Amino acid sequence: MKEGSNNIHAVFEKLLKRADKEALLNQHSKVIWLTGLSGSGKTSIAAWLEKKLNDEGYLTQVLDGDNVRSGINNNLAFTEEDRTENIRRISEVSKLFLHCGVITINSFVSPTEDIRDLAKEIIGKENFLEVYINTSLEECEKRDVKGLYKKARKGEISNFTGISAPFEAPKNPALIIDTEKNTIEQSGDILYRFVINKISY
Ligand code: ADX
Repeated sequence: MKEGSNNIHAVFEKLLKRADKEALLNQHSKVIWLTGLSGSGKTSIAAWLEKKLNDEGYLTQVLDGDNVRSGINNNLAFTEEDRTENIRRISEVSKLFLHCGVITINSFVSPTEDIRDLAKEIIGKENFLEVYINTSLEECEKRDVKGLYKKARKGEISNFTGISAPFEAPKNPALIIDTEKNTIEQSGDILYRFVINKISY
């Protein structure tokens, strides 16, 4: 906390409640948190789910690593400290959407248990659906959609998750999706079937 923050008086009780927004939108809000290696398929599955839910009349917001890092978090790199700050800010933003009744679909590498625990703590564990997009490093490297693994192997990118920085698979995710056995559509549908009863009003 920075100096001066003890002069801040947050006002919540005068404002409308999350339940009022959920009633307006006819849905229950959750934060669907996709974690996995770069290239594991998080963004594609998030996009598939967003379209499916939107078609069915649900209001959603996707938050995605590359997008958020080109905007609100464009001053952050990939050290452990910066990744933690990345996830802290995203979690606070997710909480705003959550309290606005919006179903938030997050797609972040979020590589360690500590980082995901921080997110869970900020968002609230009852609101947080942790989904592990389980794709092996070998497969992500083979896909190498953005050409980043090649660069990381050559040493042109430092702290690259899976190569020169750690990825800890979640110990207790709410759901695991294996993208090596499923297409994007099948993976999306597995996720859809998992979340639908949690968000329907
Ligand atoms: S996180 O670790 O802080 O959660 P985040 O999901 O925001 O990462 O960003 C990951 C994306 O940034 C990757 O999909 C990849 O496109 C890009 N990227 C660039 N450098 C790195 C790096 N060193 N490690 C991981 N991803 C990187």
